[in-house]
Amino acid sequence: ETVDWDPEQAGKGEYDHFMLKEITEQPTALAQAIEGRIDATSGRIGLSAFEPGSFEAIDSVQFVACGTSYHAALYGSLALNQAGVQATALLANEYSVAAPPVDETTLVIAVTQSGETADTLNALRQATAEGARTLTVTNVVGSTAAREADDALFIRAGPEIGVAATKTFSSQAVILTLLGQRIATDLRGEPSADLESLLPALESMPSRIHELLEHSNAEAIAEQYRDSQSYFFIGRGLGYPVALEGALKFKEITYEHAEGFAAGELKHGPLALVTPETPVFAIFTGQEDEKTLKNAEEARTRGAPVIAVCPDGHPAVEAADEHLAIPETDSDLAGLFANVQLQLLSYHAADLLDRPIDKPRNLAKSVTVE
Ligand code: G6P
Repeated sequence: ETVDWDPEQAGKGEYDHFMLKEITEQPTALAQAIEGRIDATSGRIGLSAFEPGSFEAIDSVQFVACGTSYHAALYGSLALNQAGVQATALLANEYSVAAPPVDETTLVIAVTQSGETADTLNALRQATAEGARTLTVTNVVGSTAAREADDALFIRAGPEIGVAATKTFSSQAVILTLLGQRIATDLRGEPSADLESLLPALESMPSRIHELLEHSNAEAIAEQYRDSQSYFFIGRGLGYPVALEGALKFKEITYEHAEGFAAGELKHGPLALVTPETPVFAIFTGQEDEKTLKNAEEARTRGAPVIAVCPDGHPAVEAADEHLAIPETDSDLAGLFANVQLQLLSYHAADLLDRPIDKPRNLAKSVTVE
C-alpha cells in the first residue's frame, strides 16, 4: 500500500501552531483512515492486507507501544476484550522484563506513529524472536517497524509535526477498533452484533468531529481553571485510556501537573490529593456512567470543580460545575470525541501560559534511544 502526503500539509498555514492545525485536521485524517475499509450498508470491514479468516489461528493479542500510542493500544485492547478476544496492552519499554509468554498463536501488534521508537522496535524484535506473529500499526510507510513486522496497517493520518501526538491517536484508535472487529469476526466465525451500530457511527465521525471543533468551549474552560494546582482526568472502560491521554497531553504541553485515573480507583488513593484547587475532568462514554458519576461526585464533595465530558442532556451535566459536550454516539467511539475536547483544553491551557506548544522542553517527536 502507498499513502500520498500532500506537501501543502507540511506548512502551518493559517494556524499559530501545528498542534491546533493537526487537531483541526482530524475529520480529514479519520475519513482517510476509514476510506474503502468499511461499508455500513453491507456491514463489511475490508483491510486489504487481511483476507477474511486470516486471524483464525490467533488465540490472543498483545499490543506494545509507548506514550500516546500506548494509550491508543490500551483503547484497542479494551475494545478487543469487549469483543470477546483475549488482549492486553503492554508498555514497550517494560516488555523485555515483563512480557507474557508468546507462541505462534499470539499476535503482537506494535502501535507506533513514527515506526521508529526504539523501545517499540525492541519489543517487536523480541516478540519475533520468540515466535509470535507480528503486525505494525503506523503512520509511516517504509518505517522500520512497518518493514520488520510480518504485516503492516497504515493509519493514513498524514504528517504530524507537533511533538504531542493528536490526530494520530484518533486514527490509531479507530483503526484498532476496526482491526479488533476483524479479529473477533475471524475467531467467532461471524461479525459481532455491535457492528451494526458501530459502522454508521464511524462513517459519521468525521463530520461530527468537525461540528465538535466548531462549537467547543474548551478555551473558556481552560481560562476558567488556569490557576489550578493540578488537573485530574477520570474515566471508566474505554474512557480510562482517554483519561490517561488527556493527562499526558496536558502535562506535555502546559508543564502543569496532571494525572489520569480509572474513575473507580480515585477513592483508593488519589482522592487524598483532591481539593478546590484540583479540577476533575470526568469522561462519560456510556459504559457504567452512573458509577463514574458517583466517583465524580465524591471529588466534588471534597470541593473539586467537576467538568463533565458527556453529551448534552446527560445526568452528569446537572451534577457537574461545567460541561464539555460530545455527541451522542456508539459507546465504542464516545471516548474519542471526549479526547478531542481534551486536546483542545490542553492546547488552549498551554497557549494561555505561553508555552512552546509544538516543541515542549525535553521531549522529542520520535525517541530512537532506549
Ligand atoms: C515520543 C513522543 C510521544 C509519542 C511516543 C511514541 O515520546 O513525544 O508523543 O507518543 O514517542 O511515539 P510513536 O512514534 O512510537 O508513536
